[in-house]
Formats: sequence, C-alpha cells, structure tokens
Amino acid sequence: MNNSPIGIFDSGVGGLTVARSILDQLPNESISYIGDTAHTPYGTKPLATVRSYALEIMDELVDEGVKMLVIACNTASAAVLRDARERYTVNRGIPVVEVILPAARRAVSATRTGKIGVIGTKATVDSRAYDDVLSVATDVDVISVACPDFVPLVEAGITTGPRVLEAAHRYLEPVKAAGVDTLILGCTHYPLLAGAISYVMGEDVTLVSSSDESAKSTFRTLLEHGLERAEDAPGPVHRFRSTGDSATFAGLARRFLGPEVSQVESMS
Ligand code: DGL
Repeated sequence: MNNSPIGIFDSGVGGLTVARSILDQLPNESISYIGDTAHTPYGTKPLATVRSYALEIMDELVDEGVKMLVIACNTASAAVLRDARERYTVNRGIPVVEVILPAARRAVSATRTGKIGVIGTKATVDSRAYDDVLSVATDVDVISVACPDFVPLVEAGITTGPRVLEAAHRYLEPVKAAGVDTLILGCTHYPLLAGAISYVMGEDVTLVSSSDESAKSTFRTLLEHGLERAEDAPGPVHRFRSTGDSATFAGLARRFLGPEVSQVESMS
C-alpha cells in the first residue's frame, strides 16, 4: 500500500485524456498532474529538446514523492522511452508507464490482417518509436502519418464539423488506402476526434487509444508493485499544475478532464 499520488505529465492539456481514464479506472488514487504549457506543443520540436523538458518535469515529480510516473504524452514517450526506466525505475525504484508500448501491444493483439496504422504528431511519427515497437511482432505492416492540424483544432474546441472532416480525410485517405484494420491514435488529443476518425476510417477499423491503454497499464503496474492507495485512506486529492498560464490551462482542462479540475496552480 502507498498513499502517495501518481505523477502524470504532458506537454499541456492532452495528457488529461490519460488522467481521465486513470481516474475512471482508479477512483481511489490521488494524482499530481503537470502540464508543460510553457513549452507546448512538443510535437513540433526536436526530440532532444522534448527529452530535456520531460526529464526536468519527471525529476520534479519524483523529488516531490510520487509513487509512480505516467508519461501521458506520445511525443515525450517517444523522446524518453529508452532512458526513463533506467533513470527512475532502476535508480530510484519508481515504476514508469508511458503511452507507446501499451497501445502498440493492444494493436498487435487486435489486428487480424497485420496492417496497422499509426497517427501522431510530426515528432512522434519521425521518431519511428511506434514502428520500432511494432516491428518486434512478426507479420505486421505499419503505416504512420503525422496529423499536425489535429492538435490545434482540438485545443480550439473544434472536434467536429467541416474543418475536422476535411483534415481527417486528407490525413487518413493514405492510411485507408493501405488497408489497415487497426489504427493507433498515437497522440493524447486524438481520442477527442475519435468520432470523426472512425467516421472516415469506417466501422471495420479498430481504433486503439493510447490514452485508454496506458491507463490500463497504470492499473496493472500499480497492482503488480503493491502500490495501491489504502481503501480506508481519506478521500483522494488531485493536484493540477501548469508551467505556463494557469487560466488558459484551467479552461481547457475542464473540457478534457471534467469537474475534478477545481484549481490549477501556476509553476511559472
Ligand atoms: N501530447 C502530445 C502528444 O501526445 C500532443 C501535443 C503536443 O504536440 O505537445 O504527442
């Protein structure tokens, strides 16, 4: 048993889709969330830059005493996938969950044809992190497409309508043409576009949400390490912080996560 919070971080509000799934699956847990809005978006930046931002925030969460870390961002996961476990799990005993491995595993078990699509930010797609993880499975063909217009649309509150459908058709037609039967939503914002994406891809294509899969992985990791919060502990406390303007973050955060975001602290 461990009553410390789960540390979750993202470049901004997107990781709140992961936090939402974690709170749904683990309602007794406290979370400590940091959105790095001072440096958002990560998806257009070089991976080395994203890596240094991500490590700085995770160091902070670990120093504050979180019991595990969730890298709730595909771009950050791509940037630190290899070294976060060594830095935090091996050296400090803190389990780390990220979003890429859980989604890739789910896609491999879901596909019937072996043709898997991945959509994400430019940095995630260019990193080939999903391709590398998926290539461990035999008989899997991967097509990856960056969808840079999706994040700004979601952050502007536009998740349906002609602009979304136009962008979805433009990005997804090559993925459809490749005949995928499974599509990984490899960006934290894309679950909010699942309606439009599914509409364009068709009902026969299974959408795998990296947010939902990483929340399941968080659940599993917590139990495997015996880190659940005691059932008789006082009610969970959630803390939300942003490295940039907290008012903008708070407005978007309520839309991504819901009423649990009562107050946002600024770290700037
Ligand atoms: N959270 C990022 C991701 O999942 C998307 C937003 C950004 O580019 O920072 O890749």
